[in-house]
Amino acid sequence: MPCPCKVIYPSIMPTTDGSHEKTLAALGVNQPEQVAALFAEIRARYDAESAAVKDEAAYRHFRDAWMGRKSGVLSAITDNWLKPATPELKRAVGAGLNELRAHVDAQIETRRAAIESGAEEAAAAKERVDLSLPGVIRSVGSRHLIRQVFQEIEDIFVSIGFSVVEGPEIETPYYNFEALNIPEFHPVRDDMDTFYLELPKGAPGPLLLRTHTSPVQIRTMEKRQSPVRVIVPGKVYRRDNPDATHSFMFHQIEGLAVDTDITFCDFTGTIEYFVKQYFGPGVKTRFRPSYFPFTEPSVEFDVSCIFCGGSGTGASGATCGKCKGSGWIELFGAGMVDPAVYGFVNYDAKKVSGFAFGMGMDRLAMLKYGIDDIQAFFQNDVRFLKQFP
Ligand code: FA5
Repeated sequence: MPCPCKVIYPSIMPTTDGSHEKTLAALGVNQPEQVAALFAEIRARYDAESAAVKDEAAYRHFRDAWMGRKSGVLSAITDNWLKPATPELKRAVGAGLNELRAHVDAQIETRRAAIESGAEEAAAAKERVDLSLPGVIRSVGSRHLIRQVFQEIEDIFVSIGFSVVEGPEIETPYYNFEALNIPEFHPVRDDMDTFYLELPKGAPGPLLLRTHTSPVQIRTMEKRQSPVRVIVPGKVYRRDNPDATHSFMFHQIEGLAVDTDITFCDFTGTIEYFVKQYFGPGVKTRFRPSYFPFTEPSVEFDVSCIFCGGSGTGASGATCGKCKGSGWIELFGAGMVDPAVYGFVNYDAKKVSGFAFGMGMDRLAMLKYGIDDIQAFFQNDVRFLKQFP
């Protein structure tokens, strides 16, 4: 039978002519000295093949070629040399075979260990982290412009004694409407087309997505006694059709100041101060009479349209689409807190007075940063977001 290593690994072909496959008689060996020379040759061949084995697959074939029970070289020597040996040669063949087997056993084990540790080293080298390579740069996001604008607004109000409070986005009609002096069926509810929640049968309700941040006025006054000076940032929801200045979800920032002697002058002074700080001294502003059930008197506060410079006409001569030709953009509603509201929170309307406002934070951002479509805030287009690092 041909040696398997001849077929599979030509590069480690035996250096002799396959003498182990022939009997001693066929090889012309009849002296013990010749036997010793034959074993020396075989051993040299083993050492040469062993040195050529470089990886695990080659090692496995090499091991089987020499030690395989049926077709290995050692078995072939046993069958072809030892078993049919003449009594004169038997002793020399037995001794030579034992010595060769001991050599093969020891060397093959050493080879295996060397190859294994080489493979481990190669694997470790593959996995090794090269700390000198340049790292993968992951860009860090930035705070959303709305968040940045809130920070600016917060800084201004905190600097004049306001603190920040928050309230739930899911509200009861009591806080969103009734305690703000908006009873059921009051026509003003029509202005805030509302998302009511579908609740499981038997769950206490109704509940709704708050339509403004004003409910937090009530929640704050329920918890705190006058004096109160707070601002309330947060998301609010209305079934408004989307356009350049309307979204169904937007951000408001509520303000509430209540004390023993707050007047309309305090209110206008505070608002003027805020607007000049936020927009700079050049911006034109105006108050318009308005109506909110929870303030009396009530006003709307407008700033001149930055898109048409307050002219109401766009660059092409057409009517400015942002302010709809008026030259003004409505920023917020406000007013002196209606005494009826104090009744809902156990404040003494004869002793306290105050003002409140509710600003559209998205519109404040649009005006200051020249953004002509409110939808850009919610589309998460990185090309837009990256402009406000
Ligand atoms: C209110 O929501 C009152 N709660 C404000 C208020 C608070 C009045 C305290 C008095 C005292 P109004 O519905 O006008 O008011 O909304 C306030 C501001 O939110 C508007 O001036 C506008 O800037 C912004 N706003 C309203 N609807 C939208 C919308 N769909 N998308 C974006 N911004 C909006």
